[in-house]
Amino acid sequence: MEPVIDPGMDTAELYRSFAMIEAPGLSPTYEAWALGIAGDPEIIALIDQLPAPKRQVNLVFAAARAAGAGASGYPEFRRWLVATWDRVRDIALSHATQTNEAGRCAVLLPLLAALPQPLAIIEVGASAGLCLYPDRYSYRYGDTVLHPDDGPSTVLLSPRIAGPVPVPDRMPRIAWRAGLDLNPLDVSSEADVAWLEALVWPEHDDRRERLRAAIEIVRKDPPRIVRTDALSGLRALVAEAPKDTTVVVYHSAALAYFTAKDRSAFAELVRDLPVHWISNEGELVVPGVREKLPVPLPDPALFVLAQDGEPVAFAGGHGQSLYWIG
Ligand SMILES: C[S@@+](CC[C@H](N)C(=O)[O-])C[C@H]1O[C@@H](n2cnc3c(N)ncnc32)[C@H](O)[C@@H]1O
Repeated sequence: MEPVIDPGMDTAELYRSFAMIEAPGLSPTYEAWALGIAGDPEIIALIDQLPAPKRQVNLVFAAARAAGAGASGYPEFRRWLVATWDRVRDIALSHATQTNEAGRCAVLLPLLAALPQPLAIIEVGASAGLCLYPDRYSYRYGDTVLHPDDGPSTVLLSPRIAGPVPVPDRMPRIAWRAGLDLNPLDVSSEADVAWLEALVWPEHDDRRERLRAAIEIVRKDPPRIVRTDALSGLRALVAEAPKDTTVVVYHSAALAYFTAKDRSAFAELVRDLPVHWISNEGELVVPGVREKLPVPLPDPALFVLAQDGEPVAFAGGHGQSLYWIG
């Protein structure tokens, strides 16, 4: 499953838009590659051999890195890509963008900690389940530091914060956790772990380190992730949550993979369930959220964090920043 690609965008526009909106400040390598490709009809023709949903930049670049592409400039990458295209194509065809970013827990935590405890948490689009363990990581919000009950974690999440962030003074108590995903990844599979690493952008060594550390934590207590489509599987999973818990359904960077029709159906479904709903997605992804923003999104690369459909904060896509709207 791939993010829904704007049908009005051709491949060159897709890569140009990535170079101009998503990569700047985050990955000079990917910015240069995407910009180079956007103006290179021969490479566009190669990428256009893929079915439309597989042409997305993150997938093609991760496939290239899984096939061994180094973090070079565009001319060298182009030579390498032409010579290695068959391998890159096969990897893109057999894999999906399932980036699993434990850092996003830093965005979810203030909302989780403020709900009546204990919680039963259900993540939609859980990938390998690294965001199912918000209580196993350490956090630093400004001067406030929070650790799991058994002491400091090997994963420390330290987002830049602004605005009246309701910084938690204690960890949420999670009585039960489960995820669902169309294609769960397995933290004990070397192949799945290698793919998760390939999905991390080249310059993001800190994210790669965090990924490895989070995988070690999750390996000790692997999550239950049900293989199902969210629309068909969520209701049954919610029904399994233990009584006397606050049930929370949440998702980050997942609804972008649904069609517009399925996003609306999902929003309707989750509103009908006896749960709290936390979404952390792009501005245009969750139906109704954009219309309720009291101030415009300061940067199109930011996510909007919402609780029960009401926007509360803007968040860096990997959980690196959190700006509470107030
Ligand atoms: C980019 S990953 C995000 C993983 C995780 N939420 C995070 O923030 O790190 C998106 C995940 O959503 C899953 N997904 C996409 N469409 C889905 C659907 N209709 N039902 C269930 N899972 C879906 C994909 O398989 C993928 O693992």
